Amino acid sequence: MRINLKEAARLLSQENVVAVPTETVYGLAGCLTSKSAIEAIYQIKKRPSNNPLIIHVGHCQEVMKYLEKKVPDFERLAQTFWPGPMTLILPVNTSLVPDLARAGLPTAAFRVPKHSLVLELIKQCGPLVAPSANLSGKPSPTHPKHVECDLGEDFPVLDGGIVEQGLESTILAFCEDRWQIARQGALPAEAFQGILGYEPSLITSGPICPGQHYKHYAPNAKLFLKEPPGDLNWVIGFSDRIYNQKVKLLSLGPSHDPLEVARNLYSTLRKLDEEGAKEAWVDMNFPEKGLWLTIRERIVRASI
Ligand code: TXA
Ligand code: MG
Repeated sequence: MRINLKEAARLLSQENVVAVPTETVYGLAGCLTSKSAIEAIYQIKKRPSNNPLIIHVGHCQEVMKYLEKKVPDFERLAQTFWPGPMTLILPVNTSLVPDLARAGLPTAAFRVPKHSLVLELIKQCGPLVAPSANLSGKPSPTHPKHVECDLGEDFPVLDGGIVEQGLESTILAFCEDRWQIARQGALPAEAFQGILGYEPSLITSGPICPGQHYKHYAPNAKLFLKEPPGDLNWVIGFSDRIYNQKVKLLSLGPSHDPLEVARNLYSTLRKLDEEGAKEAWVDMNFPEKGLWLTIRERIVRASI
């Protein structure tokens, strides 16, 4: 059910949960101060309680008051990339951040989203915790109809139309004296080189929080990433390429435009299920750099 800003603010202030647009994907938002809303978020999403949430704030100054200690380059990162698709995992004063939001960890994840509607809600209601507004394991929603498909037609969604980025925020954590990437996302690793003086590498030593091993982003259809087997009916590919005429193409957009492909990826995965496709081949012939790396990682995870 599409709702407006006033209604969304009213529902949140009464400790309800509302789906909200951000520049990355739609989030399932509740007030940080509402225990019942946070509990409802885990329940609605069917999310395991050991997978913590991101706290969305209006300005980097707001994060300061929760911090347990200073972290190198935090302010420079925040000033450069916020508002925007970067999430920082920071050590917090645990008496100020509800246990449930951070799944009992001594750290919490923060970001300032770049979307006028959600920023206005934060102004009116305070910090909002919000995971992506999909059912756990499904592709993140990039349009209100995806939220309604997962959570039901009557679920309240603040309508911001199609999102701008289409991939979740890049998550950075400060470990072993360096910022490292805990989740690839809408900002590629090289974006941080100028500020940090090094390109943060991907954390390879396993998940830094227990919830991160859960399967993600997957449609019901089985995805094949290697050689197209002869008898597949569907291909996820690019609008400027020619495929076997017998297969049905779901286009991610032009092969030279990673921003457009990122924006279309999750809705294309969902489309497969809408069409009742059981199997599809994905054209993985695209570069292994920049935003393409995140696109590749999401497709690989969707295929497992
Ligand atoms: O773009 C986004 O980040 C979207 C929009 C709505 O902001 N949100 C999003 O949230 O993708 P979610 O809950 O789907 O993913 C958040 C990730 C999870 O993988 C969780 O494990 C990780 O952040 N996370 C949260 N707090 C953490 C912490 N203290 N330590 C390690 N990982 C954490
Ligand atoms: Mg998610």
